[in-house]
Amino acid sequence: MSKLTVDTFQNGSIKNVDSSSSVQELEEYDFSKLPARPRNLNLERQRSFEERSLSELPVGLSPHPPSRADNFYRAFDNFDNVFSPSKRSGFNTPMSQFGFGQSFEPHPMIAEAWDNLRRTLVHFRGQPVGTIAALDNSDEKLNYDQVFVRDFVPSALAFLMNGEPEIVKNFLLKTLRLQSWEKKIDRFQLGEGVMPASFKVLHDPIRNTETLIADFGESAIGRVAPVDSGFWWIILLRAYTKSTGDTSLAEKPECQKGMRLILSLCLSEGFDTFPTLLCADGCCMIDRRMGVYGYPIEIQTLFFMALRCAMLLIKQDASGKEILERIVKRLHALSYHMRSYFWLDLKQLNDIYRYKTEEYSHTAVNKFNVMPDSLPEWIFDFMPTHGGYFIGNVGPSKMDFRWFCLANCIAILSSLATHEQQTAIMDLIESRWEELVGDMPLKVCYPAIESHEWRIVTGCDPKNTRWSYHNGGSWPVLLWLLTAACIKTGRPQIARRAIELAEARLSKDGWPEYYDGKNGRYIGKQARKYQTWSVAGYLVAKMMLEDPSHLGMISLEEDKQLKPVLKRSSSWTF
Ligand code: GLC
Repeated sequence: MSKLTVDTFQNGSIKNVDSSSSVQELEEYDFSKLPARPRNLNLERQRSFEERSLSELPVGLSPHPPSRADNFYRAFDNFDNVFSPSKRSGFNTPMSQFGFGQSFEPHPMIAEAWDNLRRTLVHFRGQPVGTIAALDNSDEKLNYDQVFVRDFVPSALAFLMNGEPEIVKNFLLKTLRLQSWEKKIDRFQLGEGVMPASFKVLHDPIRNTETLIADFGESAIGRVAPVDSGFWWIILLRAYTKSTGDTSLAEKPECQKGMRLILSLCLSEGFDTFPTLLCADGCCMIDRRMGVYGYPIEIQTLFFMALRCAMLLIKQDASGKEILERIVKRLHALSYHMRSYFWLDLKQLNDIYRYKTEEYSHTAVNKFNVMPDSLPEWIFDFMPTHGGYFIGNVGPSKMDFRWFCLANCIAILSSLATHEQQTAIMDLIESRWEELVGDMPLKVCYPAIESHEWRIVTGCDPKNTRWSYHNGGSWPVLLWLLTAACIKTGRPQIARRAIELAEARLSKDGWPEYYDGKNGRYIGKQARKYQTWSVAGYLVAKMMLEDPSHLGMISLEEDKQLKPVLKRSSSWTF
């Protein structure tokens, strides 16, 4: 293995050391100086960061005329402006009056979830910097004792909603420091902007040192860099800024640089003919080979959301201006491409069914030369009359028709989906409730890959057998994304139904990472217990339902400048 040169911080001075395994930060630290537990900060609400940034943008962005759903949650957003944003969600009070017009009894699982979440806190230099992936006491910890960037997002949102932004700030700054390390896999150096998939603090009580180890893909199974980490980092920075009103963090030169580096990786010129990002398998939440190679929908929606968040956060100074222009251009191209080619409803399905192939020239209708014979059997029954969704992948002669949960929720939250598409996505979830929610919310993707296809696509992966883990397993963490999407589209009753299902089992089953089976009735074959994002996802879902104004930190209004493409998307008129 090649040697890495890393900076070592000892007694305030910086030394160069060689590491033969991974990127490390060594820290001499006096444990007796540990500060008290995180305080509840009571930050004064400042002018909304969005308001401030929007008016400073190079392109004038006027908000879309408010829809029924917008008005629905904006009513609560106003509430947020009046009171301190760091007000705790009212679970400690016997009865809260903000539960979407209905009384809301705190569920006994909430206190248990907070206890579990706090037990996963990781400290570095005496400060909380993240939460480990699972409180797992088995021998097979693998890397579940690490702080994963993507896993920390629901934890971070829970802390922000509870008026504890300090840990989120520490996490953002700490991971930013990790970004600047030299990253190598064998002899190949990774891009400067790559953010780690996860990191870990090693304590040496004898030498009184703390060591930080980060994984950028060089230890990960499959050796894949986490493309989603950087996007989540930007999305979280905006959530922090929106929730606290503290713009000083995002304005720091190092944060501005961090964002520019992340985005430079994605906005660089190459041989691409599409505005979407070409990715390897395993680069996102589904971090194993699952046939998402190409232009996976999860990455495209996170890319879109991160670009929109960055547009609000990047300062218009000399270095910011240029990247802002590139962001705006890419957003236009990306939203057009996604809304045109990734969107599927009954009308579009029927068009593909009747596609001609081998068309050449600009007039081609079937631009990617998709063969109608490649349409899978299940799609004809699965597609409801009303409803639609963004499919898994689109490339040359390739359409992956699988439904992916995280991506479709992010499409709603980022407003990559137009208002009509947002409604259609929710319509589909309601009409295909048994398939997508079943006994435990929520399927990571639908349907599962089986038999010969499973062999070819997963490379015979025994963890991803049909209806298990990433291959059609049910992941409780997705509850927070569903709830956010429900609130945004004005359909909180759907979230309530899903949460009730989770409440019937989650605590009793020990907060598993995922469930198996067509209906999600079985605790996952190799699922961790006390999986942190299952716990945090539940808390975030509950807090958002109780106080919908929280949605603002993770949701963006439709941008009128990004014109909807509606020519084919007419499922709602059927
Ligand atoms: C699994 C998941 C991944 C998650 C990790 C830690 O590998 O696929 O998304 O980040 O576990 O929980």
